[in-house]
Amino acid sequence: RTSICILGLETSCDETGIAVYDSERGLLADALHSQVAMHQAYGGVVPELASRDHIARTLPLVEQTLVRAGCGLADIDAVAYTRGPGLAGALLVGAGLAAALAMAVDKPLIGIHHLEGHLLSPLLSDPALKFPFVALLVSGGHTMLLDVAALGNYRLLGETVDDAAGEAFDKSAKLLGLGYPGGPELARMAAFGHAEAFSLPRPKLHSGDLDFSFAGLKTAVLTRVNQLGANVCEQSRADLAAATQEAITDVLVKKAMDAMQRTGRRVLVVAGGVGANRRLREKLDASCASAGVRVHYPALQWCTDNGPMIAYAACRRIEAGLARPRRSYAFDIKPR
Ligand code: KG4
Ligand code: ZN
Repeated sequence: RTSICILGLETSCDETGIAVYDSERGLLADALHSQVAMHQAYGGVVPELASRDHIARTLPLVEQTLVRAGCGLADIDAVAYTRGPGLAGALLVGAGLAAALAMAVDKPLIGIHHLEGHLLSPLLSDPALKFPFVALLVSGGHTMLLDVAALGNYRLLGETVDDAAGEAFDKSAKLLGLGYPGGPELARMAAFGHAEAFSLPRPKLHSGDLDFSFAGLKTAVLTRVNQLGANVCEQSRADLAAATQEAITDVLVKKAMDAMQRTGRRVLVVAGGVGANRRLREKLDASCASAGVRVHYPALQWCTDNGPMIAYAACRRIEAGLARPRRSYAFDIKPR
């Protein structure tokens, strides 16, 4: 058999994602458990609760995913897990279980960088997509532009100097009284608002580099919220949500297009949770169309954290000879 079948575990933050990916047959099965409801009461992720929940979920989800994939553990060629970045305790759960499973069937163990998972996720739904490309990686913890020459060959073009784009969405949403995680909720509310009603800053828009900054925007939103006071009407909140979304996406689009121009690449790939934002997609579609750039997005379910992206990244690494099949079960994590 020449195909490679990977079991992948993602437990870096607040989702338990498990997948079985086959190099020839594609994604055979996957399962996802989101802890959002559990953390909601605290307004953010509580690391200790996240770890405990991963412990309760991982093994049953692995069993369920294998059954759905129609294979047993013995059919798996390697076990992949998210090595980092992420919450240390949460990462250890995935790493520990992955090592145990690999050892049980004497198969190699492969640690995957979480961001490489996100970076390659558009290839999961679009196998025709080829290197090289520029990637706009926009998640809750990261905002970066990367020049992706080939698998494993990534050059950082620019990144945020303070908050990530997802953080800007989440923190602004919190100021607007929305629940956690605020990004999708803010986007939903923004659909009913008029962005022109408020003028908000676009930090670093014309800085000439490819770095981002979102801390100032959050402060500006706080100022507007305080000005509006406690009796703010629904329409004003929606307007402010729309203005915030417009400011964040304006900066993301401008910098992404600058990166295309600088690198001369013709393909832009968007990854990470904020890549699910409809307004961002609308604006990128328009800018890319006029610049003659092809833009790819992961399927919506592969934008946020998931198991398939980890299994897939491991599969590509093994195929490319970048991950030597090694039967060493000394696992490690890299939270930062
Ligand atoms: O990639 P991801 O699932 O986790 C990290 O690795 O960080 O990204 C989560 C982030 C959160 O900040 C969330 O609010 C944001 O992605 N997000 C969105 C949308 N969906 C998720 N932000 C704006 N609009 C959305 N539709
Ligand atoms: Zn992520």
